[in-house]
Amino acid sequence: MCGIVGYVGYRDALGVVVDALRRMEYRGYDSAGVAILDGASEIAVERKAGRLANLEAELAEAGVANFAGTTGMGHTRWATHGAPTDRNAHPHRDTTGAVAVVHNGIIENFAPLRHELESAGVELRSDTDTEVAVHLVSRAYTSGPTAGDFVASALSVLRRLEGAFTLVFTHAEHPGTIVAARRSTPLVVGVGKGEMFIASDVTAFIEYTRDAVELGQDQVVVITADGYAVTDFDGNSGVPTRPFTIDWDLAAAEKGGHDYFMLKEIEEQPAGVAETLIGHFDNGRIVLDEQRLADQELREFDKVFVVACGSSYHAGLLAKYAIEHWTRLPVEVELASEFRYRDPVLDRSTLVVAISQSGETADTLEAVRHAKEQKARVLAICNTNGAQIPRESDAVLYTRTGPEIGVASTKAFLTQITANYLVGLALAQARGTKYPDEVAGEFAQLEAMPELVARVLETAPQVREIARRFARASTVLFLGRHVGYPVALEGALKLKELAYMHAEGFAGGELKHGPIALIEDGLPVIVVMPSPKGRAVLHSKLLSNIREIQARGARTIVIAEEGDDTVRPFADHLIEIPAAPTLFQPLLSTVPLQIFAAEVAQTRGYDIDKPRNLAKSVTVE
Ligand code: M6R
Repeated sequence: MCGIVGYVGYRDALGVVVDALRRMEYRGYDSAGVAILDGASEIAVERKAGRLANLEAELAEAGVANFAGTTGMGHTRWATHGAPTDRNAHPHRDTTGAVAVVHNGIIENFAPLRHELESAGVELRSDTDTEVAVHLVSRAYTSGPTAGDFVASALSVLRRLEGAFTLVFTHAEHPGTIVAARRSTPLVVGVGKGEMFIASDVTAFIEYTRDAVELGQDQVVVITADGYAVTDFDGNSGVPTRPFTIDWDLAAAEKGGHDYFMLKEIEEQPAGVAETLIGHFDNGRIVLDEQRLADQELREFDKVFVVACGSSYHAGLLAKYAIEHWTRLPVEVELASEFRYRDPVLDRSTLVVAISQSGETADTLEAVRHAKEQKARVLAICNTNGAQIPRESDAVLYTRTGPEIGVASTKAFLTQITANYLVGLALAQARGTKYPDEVAGEFAQLEAMPELVARVLETAPQVREIARRFARASTVLFLGRHVGYPVALEGALKLKELAYMHAEGFAGGELKHGPIALIEDGLPVIVVMPSPKGRAVLHSKLLSNIREIQARGARTIVIAEEGDDTVRPFADHLIEIPAAPTLFQPLLSTVPLQIFAAEVAQTRGYDIDKPRNLAKSVTVE
């Protein structure tokens, strides 16, 4: 949530900052704002509720010449404290206009701090938790032991703050310096020549530099045009950071000719699945990326928990089918937001698999921390190199699909499923529940999947045509059995979040226990059929379910394996996907559901990259 950028160098800071905000707008789009320093006694600030375009219009009206300077910072907001209005938009300034702040996260103790400031006669001008920070820095700079020292003033305030935050401060008397701090929420430094950047993610500055530094927990960085210095909140240097080279290119973070990132990302799925597999089968063995778990430990686990949120949770539900089938280990799948609050039974023989595209999701991060406190070992599946969740985990498997900008998870979801299979095979290999040639055989079948995903993409025109027919429906139901059930849940989530429609996914067997009461004349129901060869029993049972709903007036849209003629008489619309091994079918059956949801949403006139009320990274609980 919230995208933050800071720049010190020789370029026009406004241009750098606005471009960076454009690339990070997926992180939140309730408001946007910039602060530019040019040596004047007040920092020039412009901020506006709504999309970045609103801010750009405001800047044009104010005259960009008024925002000249080579130091600046910007913010794109996902509102937590305070409505998404102009007055709550960041940056916030102190009463003199000399100090400015932008913030991602939540300052949990803002209420007593606000009271303290108000008692001292400071008039706060927003409803945010953030604003207290800027007044406190201003006061620390004006009088007391840190007077006149910008960095020391910022540090003294940071030590008083509780919660999760990335905070960036600028001071008009120090126009070539930015002070930034992180606790739990992300912050990376971009190291240029004669210029330095800080940002919530690297897409903000990959145009200028590939050299980056990931800050650790409770660290502060001071950047100037010539370099950066990292300390802890007490100002001690020598703290560990992680320098890395960015291997994404700019094109990977841009739309590549599509109207929406989401459409580009759907098309990138075959490549994402293929990339996620590369290098993970070496010398006849499955290997993870950062394996800090010994094979002996993999052998000794007696239980697996999978924790995740949203689409990542649906990917986690699929992990259960594969891991239990291949390893005979019991697997529980939990919403990360529920996990730690219900006191799960964990110990050092428990493996917790944490799935997160961003690696930042607060609920999942806290679930990881809870698991570690209970001595469980944690394996992260993540798409963002060096994010907090993989950093705090014992082993990591990266989904290598490049940045996912569209808020709705698509390529992240497919690559998470792929990574689940690798985890399942790694466990089966270590525990000997599959022979090496069986592991090799499963891996070879996985390697064949990208081509099949590409074939499913060819159904897009047909799926779009069907989607347009049902775009005005008030409800769409999704049915599946076995691995088709999590796919049904994911299809419903896509439709809810993109098209703002009532959509629900059900296990076919549950239909008669209640949901069938929803069926009425003309109601669209999307059915994900299992392979007639792979799971014949389930196939015939789901076929019966389709008959039951069709008899009650439902309009059936059926996703079935090519050549599955038994289903044809009961499908008002049939979308055929290639045959695949049972466990791997979700890699195919999910794709039409993504295309369906995107087309329905577009037909209804919605921005599919930035659905209302959502943000890409949910860094608050
Ligand atoms: O970054 P994460 O994978 O941890 O994010 C989890 C969910 O917030 C995410 O999957 C969300 O549900 C998406 N909007 C789904 O499309």
